[in-house]
Amino acid sequence: MPTMADVARSAGVSVATVSHVLNGTRPVLPHTRQAVLDAMDELGYTPNTLARSLVTSRTRSIGLAVSAISNPYFTEILQGVEAETLRHGYSLLIADPHDDPAHERKVVQLLHERRVDGMIVAPSAEPGELLAYLDRHRVPTVLLDRVVEGPPHFDQVCAENTGPTSLLVTHLAGLGHRRIGLVAGLPGLSTSGERLAGYRSGLTAAGLSYDEQLVAYGDSASAGAERATAALLSLADPPTALVTANNAMTIGALRALRDRGLSVPGDLALCCFDDFAWADLFSPRLTAIAQPSKELGAEAVRVLLARLAAPDRPAGTVRLPCTFVHRSSCGCAEPPARSTQFETSEKFEKFEKGPDS
Ligand code: HPA
Repeated sequence: MPTMADVARSAGVSVATVSHVLNGTRPVLPHTRQAVLDAMDELGYTPNTLARSLVTSRTRSIGLAVSAISNPYFTEILQGVEAETLRHGYSLLIADPHDDPAHERKVVQLLHERRVDGMIVAPSAEPGELLAYLDRHRVPTVLLDRVVEGPPHFDQVCAENTGPTSLLVTHLAGLGHRRIGLVAGLPGLSTSGERLAGYRSGLTAAGLSYDEQLVAYGDSASAGAERATAALLSLADPPTALVTANNAMTIGALRALRDRGLSVPGDLALCCFDDFAWADLFSPRLTAIAQPSKELGAEAVRVLLARLAAPDRPAGTVRLPCTFVHRSSCGCAEPPARSTQFETSEKFEKFEKGPDS
């Protein structure tokens, strides 16, 4: 096995220079750097990252713990994390906590035992133990997607939830709907709570009162949403329009409607939180809020690396805007494909001033 000394000899430089090229610890002249890289290539030299970690106490790896990685939303987050991690010369270890507090705590401990330099975690609905563990072990951590209020304070990266959900409600109200139902997510997740708050503020903005009968909990999952939608449809005075609070629950709601032979938007208008690749293949095409999923993943990596570089700076929360993708399940005539996409925060501000401004 060729060693660093072999590389140094072949490139005509010192071992220290080879080390600086490998670790980026000091700037090296471009032609010297190239000579070192060429020598490594020629000799078939592979750096031993384990040996390097023993010297630096850094593994140049980060851990990612997100549940439901088969859900396209989280798959795209993963793509964003992976690309940004690689761009910065870090490697990635992935775990799925299955949205289960005990399992979550266990996989995060395993990642920590692997001595990842930091972690990106989408916490479950009961994150108490997890957060206590991360705090106790001082693991540099970014909470992703689901935010947590109060101490211990962590850096957090998430999408806007309240304004965009409110926009879906005001859009439906603007089309004349007075009974707008919500298929809400699992209580305890900040995304569920914020989308519920957005639903309520949309009703208020549209001059409609809140009726708790029109909110059914779908557990953030397809099967739960199917049951929740069925319950809403069997009300004595059922909703004429529905907002579903994530992509999986949209699928469940559509199943419940299909099983009852109800059509969208003729029998019931539908607006969804979460866009997904095949949302425009449904007939009618689904009006949806698109989350910046890849960008959320990439931003979480940037925030984590900034934390590693400056461990003592105060923690902060980054919120990224969503996009309203106006199609036709809301009951509007089919709008031109791209012309009615806009960032929800911008439209929401406009709506505050009045829908026509
Ligand atoms: N959070 C945010 N958006 C989502 C989720 C979630 O857990 N699941 C599907 N879309």
